[in-house]
Amino acid sequence: MEEELINTKNTALSFILEAKGERELEEIRLQFLGKSGKLTLTIKGIAKLPIEKRPEIGVLANDVKKQIEDALGRKLEELLSQTTINCDIDQTDPGIPSPIGHLHPTTQVLNETIDIFKTIGFQVADGPEIETDYYNFEALNIPKDHPSRDTQQTLFLDTRNTNITPGEIILRTQTSAMQGRIMEKIKPPLRVIVPGKVYRYEQVDASHGFEFWQLEGFMIDKNVTLTDLFGTLTYFLKQLFGEDTKVRFTCHNFPFVEPGVEAYMSCSVCKGKGCGFCKKTGWVEVLGAGMIHPNVLKTAKIDPKEWQGFAFGTGFSRIIALTYQINDLRTLTNPDVRVLKQF
Ligand code: PHE
Repeated sequence: MEEELINTKNTALSFILEAKGERELEEIRLQFLGKSGKLTLTIKGIAKLPIEKRPEIGVLANDVKKQIEDALGRKLEELLSQTTINCDIDQTDPGIPSPIGHLHPTTQVLNETIDIFKTIGFQVADGPEIETDYYNFEALNIPKDHPSRDTQQTLFLDTRNTNITPGEIILRTQTSAMQGRIMEKIKPPLRVIVPGKVYRYEQVDASHGFEFWQLEGFMIDKNVTLTDLFGTLTYFLKQLFGEDTKVRFTCHNFPFVEPGVEAYMSCSVCKGKGCGFCKKTGWVEVLGAGMIHPNVLKTAKIDPKEWQGFAFGTGFSRIIALTYQINDLRTLTNPDVRVLKQF
């Protein structure tokens, strides 16, 4: 056994010495120290020796194992250092440039929009996407049985196994939900925009999504009128899309504004000629707006006799699509970099 161990050690060490590469070294390791390696099997055999022989041979076997392991370690270091020295690297060669991304089209248009509104005194606010029924509806003059709830295909959160009344926690369907939250916290006069994502159980098509961006804006001050609203919105759309953009307002009902309007702008995808995006009309609906309803102000403890305000909410995903002349909103959520690289 003693001789066998010495022989194994000598063979292993000479193999290690000759090894030409990492792979060969690994093979040698397995050949001697692997599960069924030569040394491993010899060591297993120690158990069969007479008991008085075992300690002496055990010590020797451990020593042999250690010497082989050390030799393997030294050789590996040597091989690795040679690899670096021998390999053909020109250290002065400029590297391969890593691809650099850019801001997503949504963020680009958002930044531009924020800049436009900041120049006319608006602050930017942010709010929760998981919202309560209260802020999304009740505080906006939309009580539980109001028919306008039907138009906002609401997604409800599963509140089973909680003590929350079913239906009270939802994904916000409109950034208008932030009106109440902000009015409760900041005293007028105020001018705020709130960009953010909203969710509705919608049939997805080129101009509708179940998850999309809106940008809410509202202003509360003394003597604010509908012309302030028209002026602000026309200014914003012309700044973003150019002076020749046409803007048109029609009457519309939203429970939280009185009077209420909808704003349309000339379709920038087809330049008003008519295309799939504008449903061949040449106009795209981009905003809902109006004068803040006195009930909304009262709910937030603002006296409507003293203060008036306007509010608007854009389908911001549409604004982004119109900016880049994208004729399908789904492009904006496509993660394929070949698509995103174009903007
Ligand atoms: N929140 C409305 C919507 O989602 C838009 C709107 C905002 C209308 C503010 C009037 C005032 O359709």
